[in-house]
Amino acid sequence: MNNTTTILSIETSCDETGVSIVQYNKTTQKYTVLSDSLNSQVEIHKEFGGVFPMVAKREHGNNLTGLLTHCLENVVSIDGSSIDKKNIDFELINREKELTEKIQTELENTSSLLLKIPEIDYIAVTRGPGLEPALWVGLSFAKFLSKLWQKPMLPINHMEGHISSVLLDTESSHIEFPSLALLISGGHTELVDIENWGKYKIIGKTRDDAVGEAYDKAARILGLSYPGGPLIAAKAKKLRESAVESDIQFKKNQFLIKLPRPMQHSQDLDLSFSGLKTAVLYMVRDLKKNQSVENLPEEIIDLICHEFENSVSEVLISKLNFANKSGNRKYKNLIVAGGVISNEFLKENIQNWCLKNNINFLKPEKSLATDNAVMIALAAIVGLNNKYVSIINPNDKAFLEIKPDGDWSLNNI
Ligand code: KG4
Ligand code: ZN
Repeated sequence: MNNTTTILSIETSCDETGVSIVQYNKTTQKYTVLSDSLNSQVEIHKEFGGVFPMVAKREHGNNLTGLLTHCLENVVSIDGSSIDKKNIDFELINREKELTEKIQTELENTSSLLLKIPEIDYIAVTRGPGLEPALWVGLSFAKFLSKLWQKPMLPINHMEGHISSVLLDTESSHIEFPSLALLISGGHTELVDIENWGKYKIIGKTRDDAVGEAYDKAARILGLSYPGGPLIAAKAKKLRESAVESDIQFKKNQFLIKLPRPMQHSQDLDLSFSGLKTAVLYMVRDLKKNQSVENLPEEIIDLICHEFENSVSEVLISKLNFANKSGNRKYKNLIVAGGVISNEFLKENIQNWCLKNNINFLKPEKSLATDNAVMIALAAIVGLNNKYVSIINPNDKAFLEIKPDGDWSLNNI
């Protein structure tokens, strides 16, 4: 019996193109990343001040083939089973211009790794949630490879990927339940009750902007570039390290820098960050007017960043409190994932909250906090081990019918 499961995974839900190969050893229950390649489009989207779906789609099409061949160098090909170019079906990727061109160029090389069947068991791909034009590229690519190599395909939920991202850490490779998850990224802000793998219930989410989105929008108002999260974080950190809290508060009072804590006491698990961004907008407008300046001095921008971050932190902590007290669960772990958990201040406050409430704190290693393909492979392995992931063979009827689902909720795994 084969003791390992090897997954090739593909992620294209937003602005990161990821391909990875992850192996799971059934005896040791350990996950090993055999290869991982990631291409971030952040620099390209910077000029638009946010992610532009059709640009993301084009870039995924341009990136995927190169990332895949790079990954394939690290896995063994099945001897003697190379593929005859004449039998390749391009219909599955017809809709993807850039992807088709790149694959065709790659196949001009007769020794291309694409033409050898790799020793993998499954192809996992993000089916949603995310930007549908972007999701289509990854899904079409997965279908093309699935047919080419006759390997089954596994459609994976991106948010389940974020939850599973903590598994790579050896200390948390086995997770006890029930657990609570706080998913905070540029596109999502969700609190999830996890009864077991595959049994998710979204118990709270944002009514409007995601946390990362609020960071990015506030940064834009403050004249900082995209993505603004890390820039706001850096300014708030600089201030925290250079002045004592009472002096910071004194200065804030002096300039009337006070932001709301949206829905902090709403007695439910709903969140909302669009009002916070609007409050920053009005505050900046008023401060500029009062001081008769076109650009705010750096000192004031730093104070606003500090206040913004305090607001986000206080709101998130109060929702964690409510989630922990209002249900009839004794949560064993809090899993926090998504790009915003790169924020050291939020991480520290959440970690302290966990300590106080006797809940184990789990977070992904730094490289897996933002979107990546490794987390998609990890979710696939979990879904296979717990027998709930759909396994779609290239000759199944479902294979041709499967489409991305931009709104695929964790409630419907
Ligand atoms: O998970 P992610 O890479 O992509 C999405 O799925 O959205 O998250 C990206 C988001 C961006 O909004 C970015 O500003 C935010 O994460 N972010 C941060 C920090 N680093 C990244 N927000 C606050 N503080 C940070 N240090
Ligand atoms: Zn994400």
